[in-house]
Amino acid sequence: MRKGQVNVFFLLLFLSLSSASDQKWRKAMMSAYNGSSSSSSSMMMNRVGSSILFPIHGNVYPAGYYNVTINIGHPPKPYFLDLDTGSDLTWLQCNAPCVHCIEAPHPLYQPSNDLVACRHPLCAALHPPGDYKCESPDQCDYEVEYADGGSSLGVLVRDVFSLNYTNGVRLSPRLALGCGYDQIPGTSYHPLDGILGLGRGKSSIVSQLQSQGLVRNVVGHCLSGRGGGFLFFGDGLYDSSHVTWTSMSQEFTKYYSPGSAELHFGGKATGIKNLIVIFDSGSSYTYLNSQAYQGLTLLLKKELSGRSLKEAPEDQTLPLCWKGRKPFRSVHDAKKYFKTSLALAFANSGRRKTQFELHPEAYLIISNKGNVCLGILNGTQVGLQNLNVIGDISMQDRMVVYDNEKQVIGWSPANCDHLPRFKSAYYI
Ligand SMILES: *[C@@H]1O[C@H](CO)[C@@H](O)[C@H](O)[C@H]1NC(C)=O
Ligand SMILES: *[C@@H]1O[C@H](CO)[C@@H](O)[C@H](O)[C@H]1NC(C)=O
Ligand SMILES: *[C@@H]1O[C@H](CO)[C@@H](O)[C@H](O)[C@H]1NC(C)=O
Ligand SMILES: *[C@@H]1O[C@H](CO)[C@@H](O)[C@H](O)[C@H]1NC(C)=O
Repeated sequence: MRKGQVNVFFLLLFLSLSSASDQKWRKAMMSAYNGSSSSSSSMMMNRVGSSILFPIHGNVYPAGYYNVTINIGHPPKPYFLDLDTGSDLTWLQCNAPCVHCIEAPHPLYQPSNDLVACRHPLCAALHPPGDYKCESPDQCDYEVEYADGGSSLGVLVRDVFSLNYTNGVRLSPRLALGCGYDQIPGTSYHPLDGILGLGRGKSSIVSQLQSQGLVRNVVGHCLSGRGGGFLFFGDGLYDSSHVTWTSMSQEFTKYYSPGSAELHFGGKATGIKNLIVIFDSGSSYTYLNSQAYQGLTLLLKKELSGRSLKEAPEDQTLPLCWKGRKPFRSVHDAKKYFKTSLALAFANSGRRKTQFELHPEAYLIISNKGNVCLGILNGTQVGLQNLNVIGDISMQDRMVVYDNEKQVIGWSPANCDHLPRFKSAYYI
């Protein structure tokens, strides 16, 4: 999981502005559709057409990441970015010149000379609340650190992003991004050009698009268990009534968190509770704090005792792997041993509990040795302290939607192998 230096202060500011920006969005949509009529039904179609959709590549295992190609600069050049709902800032490895860059698939980004000033709200959003030093007022220096020990240091610049709405209309907004000229790779380092920050903060790409009136501040992804999938911005590509929604915590505002959860096993509460959970696409696996992890592994070991699965400590793929009579080829082969249902139940501020179910595919992988391994790991061991992370493994084969305008997180089962249909007639 990645951890950006985000702060609560600007999130609050953003919240208080959100109803005003709704109107701005509508006005901008009207002008973006010059040619079409302005009846209410075309308003509706505009809204459907005005999402932005990207195919993504990657998988949980063996790659350990999902990447999206974004075209930036003038003329636009492609970059492969790691999708990260756990941090806000988008940055590229950058020739400023580069002090320390990591090998990347594309040549380093040549920064535009359009610098974001130090006192700009987007710069402030990347610093802890309160006063920060502005040694050179014309430039915004940033440093982000991630939970895996990696970091990026650089300056904030504005450049053109080449994007397409699903209705084919092109847009080329100028958005702020980090020109990262000094990187330290973390333990989960991936060979990519940078990171696409999709978090809750003001500096995230979607929040910037919203403040220019171009899209609703909604991010969604659909990660396929067979690799690949898609990412989208805006609220036109799903049917809200088929989504299970839970409110975003107003307490843990740094991350996409539905608040605290209790682990359910076999449909029953386990007493493993008060788990502060966050959804983080920048993490390939799911993490529980030491106590919850211990509780879960005990329950699983008890369930597996007397079965023909044997622990396989010689398999170092993940900390806990089991060997079957024959090597497994897919999670499907191993599923019969993991019949007891697993879920996280969110308290949802006193209302009905919302359950996030974890099917075997959402917590098991098959290692290259044909063993089945637990993809839920001990977060305390990697320094997450009390935070529990729902990573890519547990978000596969469903659409996960982060609606920053309504301040809700939702999910629904989905086939992520195909891009969603977005014929406007379909939604009206
Ligand atoms: C809207 O119309 C004006 C004038 O006809 C034109 O200059 C502008 O480019 C159009 N905008 C779009 C988004 O089509
Ligand atoms: C990233 O995604 C692109 C397609 O968008 C793919 O061609 C490329 O191989 C991927 N890069 C990595 C390093 O996985
Ligand atoms: C946007 O659409 C145009 C064609 O309409 C295409 O050439 C271009 O590659 C698309 N850009 C992106 C970022 O998908
Ligand atoms: C989890 O990690 C912590 C820190 O390394 C360790 O003290 C604890 O024993 C681990 N818990 C389990 C159940 O392995």
